[in-house]
Amino acid sequence: MNFYDSEKMADLLKPHGYEIDICADNADLIVLNTCHIREKAVEKTYSELGRIRDQVKNRKEKTGKQSIVAVAGCVAQAQGKEIMKRSPWVDIVVGPQSYQNLPELIAKVDPIKKNNQINIDFPTIPKFDYLESEMNKREPSAFLTIQEGCDKFCAFCVVPYTRGAEYSRPIKSILDEAKKLIDIGVKEITLLGQNVNAWSYEGRDNKIWGLGRLIAELAKLKGLKFIRYTTSHPLDMDLELIEAHRDISKLMPYLHLPVQSGSDNILKLMNRKHTAKDYRKVIEKVRDFKPDIAISGDFIVGFPGETDKDHQETLNLIKEIQYSQAYSFKYSVRPGTPAAISYNQVNEEVKSKRLYEVQEILREQQLKFNLKSINSAIKVLVLRNGKKSNQYLGRSPFNQSVYFSSGHKNLIGSTIDINISEAFQNSLTGKIINTNNQKL
Ligand code: 5AD
Ligand code: SF4
Repeated sequence: MNFYDSEKMADLLKPHGYEIDICADNADLIVLNTCHIREKAVEKTYSELGRIRDQVKNRKEKTGKQSIVAVAGCVAQAQGKEIMKRSPWVDIVVGPQSYQNLPELIAKVDPIKKNNQINIDFPTIPKFDYLESEMNKREPSAFLTIQEGCDKFCAFCVVPYTRGAEYSRPIKSILDEAKKLIDIGVKEITLLGQNVNAWSYEGRDNKIWGLGRLIAELAKLKGLKFIRYTTSHPLDMDLELIEAHRDISKLMPYLHLPVQSGSDNILKLMNRKHTAKDYRKVIEKVRDFKPDIAISGDFIVGFPGETDKDHQETLNLIKEIQYSQAYSFKYSVRPGTPAAISYNQVNEEVKSKRLYEVQEILREQQLKFNLKSINSAIKVLVLRNGKKSNQYLGRSPFNQSVYFSSGHKNLIGSTIDINISEAFQNSLTGKIINTNNQKL
């Protein structure tokens, strides 16, 4: 979502004469878009700010030039005043719901007077109404935010506090943005939301549409080839969405469905509002409708009170589900969330051991999943050039990175059949099948 917000900020600033620079060193404006989900991400903000002060701001000032530094995103939202106190040289602090005001805030900054600006409001008029600007170039695969915020209040999570209450973007606004993305060459859209499958809005038939119905509508857009969505909550996986995986060929066979833990005791303490059995049932149903779907997820180890038995239940669930790939984290104490004040925090050593055990199984499963692709033909959307000469990087329907070589100069944005020859944990490699028969 930060990636999307960063692109939007760049779009907003385009009419004001700003262009994206791949290197911050000489930039007139640096926007540090931050994440607050785990403590590590917050620490990164402060270390990166130190680097920007020394290597950019101070260095430029010595040569008589100015640069404006803005901190955006959820650390800005949660620690706005603290940032200004710890780093008073920062010019702007802007929260994720107010970045539509960035041009105005920039105009007000006077680096000489050091009159820094702060805007961490939750405006009553949603920011999307202000984001209708000309777009910078995108990769063939782009993000599109359709939902923000969360009402679920998992006991470990800051999102309901930093991103606010659940909000579904109107259908017209989503379709308009999708059309604009297609016009600038985008072939794949990933619909985004903290709880993307909680999206709902009244359709033109006066019925409430859910995500499955929205995907069907987007699938009608000519020029759009692939649709994905992330990330979902098990309780919001309704039948229409599951059916969409069977019926809509543009919807990719990949589902990121976090469960966090395999233990009902922990799920209860986490306030997840579902059991491990509920999760298993959802996955089973999804696989009934779309047998070859790749399943991904999120896990937290070492949540306060997690015993060896609870941990073993998580390992059992992972073994049973068989993930194509998944994310796993040590529980990180987030101030202001209910779990932060639990007296029975798990010690760091135990967390590390449990994380290792979870990741070991997930690594094996990922490799096993990738190995299944060997000698098969996979349709790949070509995203960009690889690091080696003549090398391209594309994405498979199952969200795997696929590397291949070709002397063709302009393959980015094409869909190409690749015969997979090698599989690794994080990627596949292969050769273009029968170049003559493919429209390259
Ligand atoms: N500690 C560790 N992981 C967390 N996540 C969210 N909050 C925390 C936390 N306090 C993880 C969850 C979520 C993903 C986006 O980040 O697994 O699904
Ligand atoms: Fe956070 Fe997701 Fe739980 Fe919402 S559903 S509180 S975003 S972990």
